[in-house]
Amino acid sequence: MEDVTDIVFRKVVAKAAKPDVFFTEFTNTDGYVHAKGYEALRGRLMKDEDEKPIVAHIWGDKPENFEKMSIDLANMGFDGIDINMGCPAPGVINNGCGSGLILNPNLAGKIIEAAKLGGLPVSVKTRLGFNEVEEWKIWLSFLLKQDLVNLSIHLRTTKELSNYPAHWELIPDILKLRDEIAPNTLITINGDIKDYQMGMEFYDQYKVDGIMIGRGIFHNPFAFDKHVIPRTSEDYLDLFKYHLDTYDKYIAIEPTLQKKLQRFFKIYIRDIKGAAKLRLKLIDAENTIEIRNLIHEFLQGNLIEDTVE
Ligand SMILES: Cc1cc2nc3c(=O)[nH]c(=O)nc-3n(C[C@H](O)[C@H](O)[C@H](O)COP(=O)(O)O)c2cc1C
Repeated sequence: MEDVTDIVFRKVVAKAAKPDVFFTEFTNTDGYVHAKGYEALRGRLMKDEDEKPIVAHIWGDKPENFEKMSIDLANMGFDGIDINMGCPAPGVINNGCGSGLILNPNLAGKIIEAAKLGGLPVSVKTRLGFNEVEEWKIWLSFLLKQDLVNLSIHLRTTKELSNYPAHWELIPDILKLRDEIAPNTLITINGDIKDYQMGMEFYDQYKVDGIMIGRGIFHNPFAFDKHVIPRTSEDYLDLFKYHLDTYDKYIAIEPTLQKKLQRFFKIYIRDIKGAAKLRLKLIDAENTIEIRNLIHEFLQGNLIEDTVE
């Protein structure tokens, strides 16, 4: 996920409960092939030996750049390539990238062919269609004919963004289509799946090949845990401290990994007396030292208020 799943947060998630497959942040193929652009996105491709298998999630609209980047990604030791054909952001689709490619299958096909030239398994992450749910059959049939290793489907259209419930009702028909066109292509489903247990219900019911969890991780950093274990506020705070330590460690090596940490606070600071007040204070923190000091104060009882959030 953009601005979320860099090496730092992947380490945090892996510590909480490791997923079966890791994906990098969304990395631009045009930026990659230009020396200056590459400097800025180097951190996005940073990975560790213990992150296995790891798939590079890439986007763009020029087949030649996909080819170059795919060859390099193979040399860097990535285990696969995932092409973004699902992003709905105006800055991406207005240039014909991301889910803009749903409107241009000819180019989408050329991009997939180019990405295969690196020799790694190629996957596509997409949506059901651009404007209407009914587009799913034509668009997914096209993708299934591209001999992909995996097709990850966010069960919404571009137009729906994430504002409507995911169309889980289409899963049996999508699997039937896959069996008819490309029985060897794995189908990973995505959309409103909260955690491993919920994912396994889909597996038991439909025998999908993979489950992708996105926003679930913001509500439960232990979302990939195969066991349901009650967690305490201490468990969450420990994970937060691990996040801060890991962040400091990696930004010292790779400064482009620096980012605002605000979006992560709510993951760890909640269901505890004084959570709202602490989060409010944390927003003004300038660096991880200030964040640690505030947590320390909080644990000393200095920031407690009566409400529980
Ligand atoms: C902050 C954020 C960043 C995202 N970045 C990407 C991305 O870079 N590539 C992508 O394919 N999907 C991205 N998504 C979409 C998610 O991968 C996922 O398809 C969507 O949120 C629906 O799944 P969920 O209900 O499990 O969250 C992003 C979502 C969020 C909330």
